[in-house]
Amino acid sequence: MNKSDVVQLILGDRYLKQPQQNQATAYAPTNIALVKYWGKRQQDINLPVTSSLSISLGDKGANTTLSVNNKNQDSITLNNQAIDLFSNFSQRLSQYLNLFRKPNSTYFDINITTNIPIAAGLASSACGFAALAKVLNELYTWQLTSTELSILARLGSGSACRSLWDGFVEWQAGEKSDGMDSFGVPLDIEWPDFCVGLLIMQTQEKNISSREAMQRTIQTSSLYSLWPEKVNYDLSVLKQALQEKDFALLGKTAESNAMTMHALMLSAWPPISYALPQTVEAMQKIWQLRNTGLEVYFTQDAGPNLKLLFLKKESEAIKNYFPEIEIVQPF
Ligand code: DP6
Repeated sequence: MNKSDVVQLILGDRYLKQPQQNQATAYAPTNIALVKYWGKRQQDINLPVTSSLSISLGDKGANTTLSVNNKNQDSITLNNQAIDLFSNFSQRLSQYLNLFRKPNSTYFDINITTNIPIAAGLASSACGFAALAKVLNELYTWQLTSTELSILARLGSGSACRSLWDGFVEWQAGEKSDGMDSFGVPLDIEWPDFCVGLLIMQTQEKNISSREAMQRTIQTSSLYSLWPEKVNYDLSVLKQALQEKDFALLGKTAESNAMTMHALMLSAWPPISYALPQTVEAMQKIWQLRNTGLEVYFTQDAGPNLKLLFLKKESEAIKNYFPEIEIVQPF
């Protein structure tokens, strides 16, 4: 099963038809996993080893406009800057669009605006591919459901399948080899006091992509066999914490899950560490603050930045201790 097979399964007789509109725009929020996706059971169509659970970041995300152009190549702008078509970023994007168009038939001007740093472990590919799936749905008037769009977004980047919804979303790993049961499912839970603080230490592109790091971890870490069990446990505890609005339990579970994912990476060969000295300093500061009674936890993805988790009542204290933080209220 490859990506085109999945697209054909979903689109049926709409597959490779011409766009019905000349231009469309769509927005998708980025999402931060509280229980991480780390490892694939199938590479090409991004089928995960385990389920995962995230929180979407509301108005932090990507807004994408696609316009059909009359040239013989795509053109891409990111935050109003033209992007080299031979860059990895452009290649990945055009290859994704190729799944939906006949060869040499349709080219697009792709205009992306995002308010999060690209490729700095802030899940930019997540909102990027979710916004693309949505905008294609508009342009081609496919009228797909959010679940179908979640599967299409997953083909671009696994974590993107969780960015079709606001709030808490579970990506159910599924079992099928065609991945038709592997998509995001929104959880019916509102938590207006829930805050995520973005502590940005570096906005540069990372040395090793999450895709490569994930693969190396599976192939070389002797600890990886413990991961599926850890995720299953964390998922059930996290869902209980969400039901009961038990913030301490949520924070502990999310932080422990992230630390375990990074421990797997440290045990890979060659070892992978996304932490900068400032990352470790911030972690230690958070642990210290917690000892003094401040309820703050963190999670970390494939980059040096930390995402702090806390409730609204702690916002002022958090701003005092981390003046550079950007606070997002997902609800
Ligand atoms: C650490 O979704 O970027 O953010 O499927 O290869 O595109 P690909 O990987 P990607 O990996 C995200 C990893 C993570 C954890 C998470 O978001 O669950």
